[in-house]
Amino acid sequence: MRLVFVGPPGAGKGTQAKVVCQRFGVPQVSTGDMLRAAKAEGKLPAELVAKMSAGGLVPDEVVIGLIDGRTLEADCADGFLLDGFPRTSPQAEALDSLLSSRRQSLDAAIALQVPFDLLMERAILRRTDKRTGQIYHLKYKPPPPDAELETRVDDQEDVVRHRLATYEKMTAELLPYYEARGMLKRVDGVGDVDEVSKRIFAALSAS
Ligand code: AP5
Repeated sequence: MRLVFVGPPGAGKGTQAKVVCQRFGVPQVSTGDMLRAAKAEGKLPAELVAKMSAGGLVPDEVVIGLIDGRTLEADCADGFLLDGFPRTSPQAEALDSLLSSRRQSLDAAIALQVPFDLLMERAILRRTDKRTGQIYHLKYKPPPPDAELETRVDDQEDVVRHRLATYEKMTAELLPYYEARGMLKRVDGVGDVDEVSKRIFAALSAS
């Protein structure tokens, strides 16, 4: 199973990716997580740190390189779920040619659809436990009292607005890209996590 999750910031890609990956036994490959890990290790160039913090996209060649290397690792041999990649048409084209050079293909692109106000609320009230990496939400998934919470630098309200605008400009073009290839599954991302997971599994079984 090789899947792509497309959707705006706060749509629930990371949350649902974990559920789907557990069901299919494939790794979640998140470019956002990889970039944040590189930043935490001091390996991300300063200009890319600044770009991410301001809510812009890092250059295509950087994320394409990350995906190329990561999907060659042993745990990706039987499939993977790409969370947050591709985000632009050049990234989607690079993914297609990378997979076809390996005689592989994608099974589906899941597009999570959530209205603007809810996206804002989901991103702004997201918190992560520093010790475990577990993602919480102050309203929808309250953290335990002993959690050591941190807020992503790009979850400040003005930055979230910028990320949503960037999504509209850069990423929305991916929906027609995958639709034209008969791969797009639009899924309503409003509702509790289990409800949304059920819709995703139903969309995948209709493939
Ligand atoms: P990335 O980390 O990919 O961020 P994103 O796409 O903006 O998505 P988010 O992580 O904000 O949201 P999500 O959809 O995963 O939602 P989540 O499940 O956490 O990218 C970060 C940055 O890295 C980019 O801005 C860019 O700079 C760079 N980057 C990454 N990939 C790139 C690429 N391909 N090209 C160029 N640059 C790239 O949920 C959000 C919150 O809502 C959580 O608190 C969660 O608990 C809650 N929640 C989730 N589902 C529900 C639900 N059903 N009900 C109630 N609450 C829910």
